Amino acid sequence: MHFDAIGRVPGDPILGLMEAYAQDPNPRKFDLGVGVYKDAQGLTPIPQSVKLAEQRLVDRQTTKTYIGGHGESAFGKAIVELVLGADSPLITEQRAGATQTPGGTGALRLSADFIAQCLPGRGVWLSNPTWPIHETIFAAAGVKVSHYPYVGSDNRLDVEAMLAALNEAPKGDVVLLHACCHNPTGFDLSHDDWRRVLDVVRSRNLVPLIDFAYQGFGDGLEQDAWSTRLFAAALPEVLITSSCSKNFGLYRDRTGALIVCAKTADKLVDIRSQLANIARNLWSTPPDHGAAVVATILGDPELKSLWADEVETMRLRIAQLRSGLVEALEPHGLRERFAHIGVQRGMFSYTGLTPEQVKQLRDHHSVYMVNSGRANVAGIDATRLDLLAEAIAEVCRP
Ligand code: LMR
Repeated sequence: MHFDAIGRVPGDPILGLMEAYAQDPNPRKFDLGVGVYKDAQGLTPIPQSVKLAEQRLVDRQTTKTYIGGHGESAFGKAIVELVLGADSPLITEQRAGATQTPGGTGALRLSADFIAQCLPGRGVWLSNPTWPIHETIFAAAGVKVSHYPYVGSDNRLDVEAMLAALNEAPKGDVVLLHACCHNPTGFDLSHDDWRRVLDVVRSRNLVPLIDFAYQGFGDGLEQDAWSTRLFAAALPEVLITSSCSKNFGLYRDRTGALIVCAKTADKLVDIRSQLANIARNLWSTPPDHGAAVVATILGDPELKSLWADEVETMRLRIAQLRSGLVEALEPHGLRERFAHIGVQRGMFSYTGLTPEQVKQLRDHHSVYMVNSGRANVAGIDATRLDLLAEAIAEVCRP
């Protein structure tokens, strides 16, 4: 038959954990796999600001007709301001524009196809390690993938090795940088490090593609945008993928944007014509609901302030979970060994646990995390930190 030769591929390494966790009957299980935020009740809540905006949409929305290839202009404007800052000269000079995409992942795929079609022959440089889907998206688009070191085998950020590798990258290649809350490690560059990366990007004439999926989860909404704004102000051309999945809690509504910063307003129009064309072949026009919610929130000072408070609450809870876990590991003599969990930023911690230890945690303690040792700190139940610490201590025993 026609399909006989089709084999099976392994399931997604991150999404597969959701299923395995759901099927585990152990009531003491821990879900530290996929990057979703959970509150004190263990729920991934819909923010109040989102609920209010949705109600407004139900009451006032008059049509479900298609939106254009770039999405709703109100969303595009709002997201550019959120990312670049409302006072960015790029906005007044009309050199920055957003294309609405199905989530940050959609923005990455759009940028990958854009690179393949409009910058043929350019490779992309990804951090080692990076979010595994970065690897597959660029490969699927036919873009050559190379890696720059980011975290060494000692589980420490290695900026010197990163800069050395980027210094060897072919001129004109694309370098993907994580704006904040690096996925999977949680190790972020300092301001000084960012300036040094900028120097290399400039001297090698690289195209920066900044993946900005966790705005507000590191040091704050404005603070997390610092690196992106540094690059956008210093360089004539920057690509930015922005996600509203985490900070607006809109995971399943697939809401994101590819923001292009171009040298001139006229060139931006050229590039956007290409993006609309590529998007038409990928998903035609983007889904509307999540973007309409975001535009409603960011366009209303009261809703925006409520939302910013809700993001801050999530950020602070994650920070507390980080220090709480380090403290809970203290009685086991492991504070020093896991001190990096308190230094890392965002949802994820590269714990340094080996794949074997991760397997033991899953098999014997129903603790689910990615094989690489990445734990979603935002999924920890704060009332059971001691239990989690005990499980970790047990698999760390020689
Ligand atoms: C993650 O890394 O867990 C998140 O970005 C969710 C995903 O799509 O993988």
